[in-house]
Amino acid sequence: MKTIKIPTITQSSATELPYPDNFFDAVFTDPPYYDNVPYSYLSDFFYVWLKRSIGDLYPELFATPLTPKSKEIVAYTHDKSWQEAKEIFEKNLKKAFEEIHRVLKPNGIAVIVYAHKSTEGWETLINSLLDSGLVITATWPIHTEMKLRLRAQDSAALASSLYIVCRKMERKEVGLFKDVKKEIEEYVPKKLENLWKDGISGADFFIAGIGSAIEVFGKYKMVMDNEGKEVRADRLLEYVREVITNYAVKQILHNGVAGSLSPLTKFYLLYRWTYGSSKVSFDEARKLAQSVGVDITREWDKGFIIKDKEFIKVLGPKDRDLKDLEDSRELIDVLHRVLLLWKKDRSEEMKKVLVETGYAHDEVFYKVAQAISEVLNPDDEEKRLLDGFLSRKEGLKQEIAKEETKSSGRLF
Ligand SMILES: C[S@@+](CC[C@H](N)C(=O)[O-])C[C@H]1O[C@@H](n2cnc3c(N)ncnc32)[C@H](O)[C@@H]1O
Repeated sequence: MKTIKIPTITQSSATELPYPDNFFDAVFTDPPYYDNVPYSYLSDFFYVWLKRSIGDLYPELFATPLTPKSKEIVAYTHDKSWQEAKEIFEKNLKKAFEEIHRVLKPNGIAVIVYAHKSTEGWETLINSLLDSGLVITATWPIHTEMKLRLRAQDSAALASSLYIVCRKMERKEVGLFKDVKKEIEEYVPKKLENLWKDGISGADFFIAGIGSAIEVFGKYKMVMDNEGKEVRADRLLEYVREVITNYAVKQILHNGVAGSLSPLTKFYLLYRWTYGSSKVSFDEARKLAQSVGVDITREWDKGFIIKDKEFIKVLGPKDRDLKDLEDSRELIDVLHRVLLLWKKDRSEEMKKVLVETGYAHDEVFYKVAQAISEVLNPDDEEKRLLDGFLSRKEGLKQEIAKEETKSSGRLF
């Protein structure tokens, strides 16, 4: 007869595991994702009732009046500064990863699940992992979240989590940043190719890209630049973002036209692609802008980039005023102007704008419009306008061409 092994369930902090060294074949963990969920505070709601009803059966689990909070690994900012919260999270996550390293058998395997939209969320995870001694051997983005859950609505929510596979083995000593960069540049686009085909898009695509880059630099104990300075996650991620961005622009525009776009157009496209219509922290937007050569502090409040306290918003056509767009030749401004005229059924004016700005027969203009439409949610108003305008594209171009020949090159 087959014997059934009863699992042992124990409770302890992940930062102090009550097991000897080299004990487990595998460790599988789903740690908190930076500041995403205030677990202990949410648990208090249930804890007080459970304590009353079954507290006497599990006295050691209900010893405190509320859930214990001091060892919780979350970046709380309600009672400390943002920097402090980040440091505490990173320090404790590192401790937990070091514990995994300690209790794993040599050549044991660990899988760590993680998801976060912000760069800080990734920086802390990567720094903690690099410091823990674990070697990252593979990463897999897996669709784990439902689009309809509350937090997904009206926010640029993530649909996937990254499964990070680590081993307890010797790591290469020091990687030179210039070599690591080269490896990332070669490896990441190859991985992105498959992800793109698999339909992973938006912020999830960025995360998957970050995952493949971690596979590259996670092999080293330390990455150093030419001046002998250690390169930490922030610099690594900045570079990874640049690689992903270039790839995305090329892909979105079906390869080839990216070179002819203005930095502001690239920024608009990438912003919409990554964050949709959500506003994001200044730092996130600044990094995205920087990767395409836009200094956000020089551009905000002049056109479609708006500063809103510590956030950045990127205005869509519905938030803009026709009057303000009249003198601009920037592709996005012209597109917004055209879309607003389209919305108001002012077809003749729309054609006039297209001709006067020189975009009437410029395929790049329509490709950008198509690309923006592709990256927006199906129910987004901007997408509806774009799709409406694009469905008339051929007709419009023909009408314009006809009128141009009629008036021998001089239209309107
Ligand atoms: C992302 S959630 C895991 C959710 C789980 N996979 C599930 O489906 O229910 C992270 C969990 O880590 C717990 N946690 C936070 N700090 C911890 C610590 N120091 N030791 C052990 N668990 C901790 C949180 O309470 C939370 O339940």
